[in-house]
Amino acid sequence: MNSKVVFITGATSGFGRATAHRFAEAGWSLVLTGRRSERLEALKASLGAKVPVHIATLDVRKNEAVLEVVANLPDAFREVTCLVNNAGLALAPEPAQKTDLNDWHTMIDTNITGLVNVTHALLPTLIETGKGASIINIGSVAGQWPYPGSHVYGASKAFVQQFSYNLRCDLIATGVRVTDIAPGMAETEFTLVRTKGNQAASDALYSTTTPLSAEDIAEQIFYVATLPAHININRLEIMPSRQAWAGFAVDRDN
Ligand SMILES: NC(=O)c1ccc[n+]([C@@H]2O[C@H](COP(=O)([O-])OP(=O)(O)OC[C@H]3O[C@@H](n4cnc5c(N)ncnc54)[C@H](OP(=O)(O)O)[C@@H]3O)[C@@H](O)[C@H]2O)c1
Repeated sequence: MNSKVVFITGATSGFGRATAHRFAEAGWSLVLTGRRSERLEALKASLGAKVPVHIATLDVRKNEAVLEVVANLPDAFREVTCLVNNAGLALAPEPAQKTDLNDWHTMIDTNITGLVNVTHALLPTLIETGKGASIINIGSVAGQWPYPGSHVYGASKAFVQQFSYNLRCDLIATGVRVTDIAPGMAETEFTLVRTKGNQAASDALYSTTTPLSAEDIAEQIFYVATLPAHININRLEIMPSRQAWAGFAVDRDN
């Protein structure tokens, strides 16, 4: 049995949940976190039969809570080999000038503050694990490529990219690897959250094309985490083959 531990934020849905399943298949022990406790309980019930599972209800925005979860990890889960910083969200798909400032703050608090909270809390154990350990941050194509309605979301993912690169510089001698995985369009609850519950909008976005699945991204996360210890993928950008960039926008007189 593989006794390595993966710590996943946002394990209750989408990429996080699929990643829990993928690592369980390979025998890793799982620390699964997210705000929806009932979903964590369900994951523990289904995956706990296969591998050791520790669940902790956690809002990554709250540093005190992050510190408490990390401090209270049971002994068998304390030596973390892989941190998957996946918890995140987009809100307010409308143009910047029409958004609610609270939505911007929620994205910054989750995608940036939450990610650094968890990273900072787990750095000591990851460094102790050393060679072969990894921090896998879930960025987005939005962190690299601008598009209308991306405003703070894209900017928060640009932070994830640069933070990942900068972390690499500091961790170079520790053996801890850092990767920014940047997915394109993937069908999860992401659009349901972004539209505040508009299932029709979510269905419309993913229909008539072939988006990535949560399992596609989980497979990439697992691949990066299990590469030989001397290899660091810095950034992995993944789009569906039916997605690409559009041209520049030009404002014209009519
Ligand atoms: N789907 C895409 O097209 C796409 C593309 C590029 C990047 N991404 C990124 O991929 C990551 C996962 O998204 P997804 O597509 O899998 O969406 P999802 O199905 O909505 O899952 C998001 C996860 O994040 C968790 N989360 C949100 N706010 C949280 C908070 N404050 N504290 C703790 N957990 C929180 C949610 O759990 P709870 O609600 O239970 O807390 C949920 O498990 C996000 O960082 C997203 O930005 C998604």
